[in-house]
Amino acid sequence: MKNRTELVRTKIDRGILQITIHRPEKKNALTLAMYTALTTALDEAEMNTAIRVILLCGAEGCFTSGNDLNDFATHPPQGEESPVFHFLRAISQANKPIIAMVSGAAVGIGTTMLLHCDLVYADQTANFQLPFVPLGLCPEAASSYLLPKLVGFLRASEILLLGECINAEKAELLGLVNQVFPKDKLRQHVMDKALRLAKQPPASVRLTKSLLRESQAQQVAEVMSKEGALFLQQLAKPEAQEAIKAFTEKRPADFSRFS
Ligand code: COA
Repeated sequence: MKNRTELVRTKIDRGILQITIHRPEKKNALTLAMYTALTTALDEAEMNTAIRVILLCGAEGCFTSGNDLNDFATHPPQGEESPVFHFLRAISQANKPIIAMVSGAAVGIGTTMLLHCDLVYADQTANFQLPFVPLGLCPEAASSYLLPKLVGFLRASEILLLGECINAEKAELLGLVNQVFPKDKLRQHVMDKALRLAKQPPASVRLTKSLLRESQAQQVAEVMSKEGALFLQQLAKPEAQEAIKAFTEKRPADFSRFS
């Protein structure tokens, strides 16, 4: 089994902390230990004055397939102190700017964490999905509040109720990402933006980020907490159990017996 530092890799270069979710054989699905490693990396970024910008990405052509569905079955989050909620609080309350670089799948928390990033760039292979309803769950990470604000109510409704895949082009139109680049150009473009940001006066960057987010911070925290509690309730129910079992058995889920 790979250890924590192998699954979430960090490196600092010219003021940019790059955090790479690195579990390519499972499409970078996130386990409890990986959430803890991500939170630690974000916390360390706050303390380290040499870090001006945080760059979040996934290994080998995938951002992240979201929470490890086997983990949901075997080690479900137990409450507000679970690693996933620590991570969500850390990313939503970060003072330093976070840039996400998305290639391939960004599923579940892979998309909701983007709502807490300051700049999101993607390549043409990127696709976004919030399959909480198809999994018998409910929105998390304050997405039921932030998504309608970002894309409009009906679009958010469609994204969350149907849980369909959104391709890169549509994500750019919706405003889920800043810009889409060709696959072989993404890293260079993102590094250019990250370096430009790292050279800006840091206190002004932090102040601007905080002003942009301040007016919704309390609402975000409240909704995130409420969603978190409901998510855990849903996870224990037969609908979610069926969805997760279907995933592990590589078959479509059957919800026909539920009322
Ligand atoms: N949790 C656990 N394992 C996962 C996973 C997840 N979220 N996502 C992918 N994997 C595993 C697959 O089970 C497979 O494992 P195996 O090789 O042992 O069978 C491996 O990663 C490769 O995934 P695969 O489905 O074959 O890749 P793909 O390119 O065809 O599809 C995804 C990629 C991300 C579209 C697809 O894997 C998927 O839909 N995953 C589930 C996403 C999800 O529902 N996340 C939870 C959101 S709350």
